[in-house]
Amino acid sequence: MRHFLDADDLQPSELARILNLAADPKPPQVLAGKGAALLFEKPSARTRSATEMAVVQLGGHPIYIGPAEVGLDQRETVEDVTRTLAGYTAVIGARVFAHSTVERMAAVSSVPIVNLLSDQAHPTQAVADLLTIRAELGHLEGLTLAYVGDANNMARSLAYAAGLSGMALRIASPEGYGFKESDLRPMRRRGCEPVQVSKPAEAVSGADVVYTDVWASMGQEAEAEKRRQDFAGFTVNRALMARAAPGALFLHCLPAHRGEEVEARVIDGDRSRVWPQAANRMHAARGLLLWLMEEVD
Ligand code: CP
Ligand code: NVA
Repeated sequence: MRHFLDADDLQPSELARILNLAADPKPPQVLAGKGAALLFEKPSARTRSATEMAVVQLGGHPIYIGPAEVGLDQRETVEDVTRTLAGYTAVIGARVFAHSTVERMAAVSSVPIVNLLSDQAHPTQAVADLLTIRAELGHLEGLTLAYVGDANNMARSLAYAAGLSGMALRIASPEGYGFKESDLRPMRRRGCEPVQVSKPAEAVSGADVVYTDVWASMGQEAEAEKRRQDFAGFTVNRALMARAAPGALFLHCLPAHRGEEVEARVIDGDRSRVWPQAANRMHAARGLLLWLMEEVD
């Protein structure tokens, strides 16, 4: 049994296998007669729907458990909720505030725990991103991904997913919003250390893919105004995209704030692949679940 708390829980060959499984349009019904508990402490437009559909496509029954019902560590402990749900289901997905919550779940669970976003990681999104890049550009190895913005959950999972796939990651963040040495150390150990630069133009220069995410993540709403000021000059606009490789893709995990981290003409423009990227969330989730159910001892 394996958990998927961040992309670095996988070996490169396992990640490649999940991408191949994600492309299987007629997967075996490995969840037939089984349930998947999907626990959300935060809102979601993509992750919940994509994962529910992936469960259905594998023959299973998704059980959505929203913030009001969860009451993690209020109504009862994270550990007791996990042990309870593991008695009914074959897998538990969780979107949480603190990453330590999914770690605590994994520590007591008798079924795989899948991180559906925490303050530290968003690995199911990163798998979908790789799927999108591979579909569009034909391969992953040797490509350069430029990430412009906050060194957040998304950036961390992308660093691992890209590194394990043989891609180079360059990241430009405003001062104080980059990865810290404590973030970089484990990345270095896995050979996934990104190159950090201070200017978006430097990160994007010649890149095959340009990626950004919101300046204020869920749970950081009170900092939004300060972040708007601190991130001035970090908008992905057409001038910045022009510095990337010819035909470079634009990706964004969404939700997007047009006029903040990305200009409308970029996200709605001809280089943007954000809609296939969003659709790939379902295929990536299906590939991951298939691998967890079928191929892990
Ligand atoms: N990209 C993503 O995780 O979207 P949701 O927050 O809508 O699930
Ligand atoms: N960094 C964002 C990603 C949303 C999918 C957040 O955590 O809110």
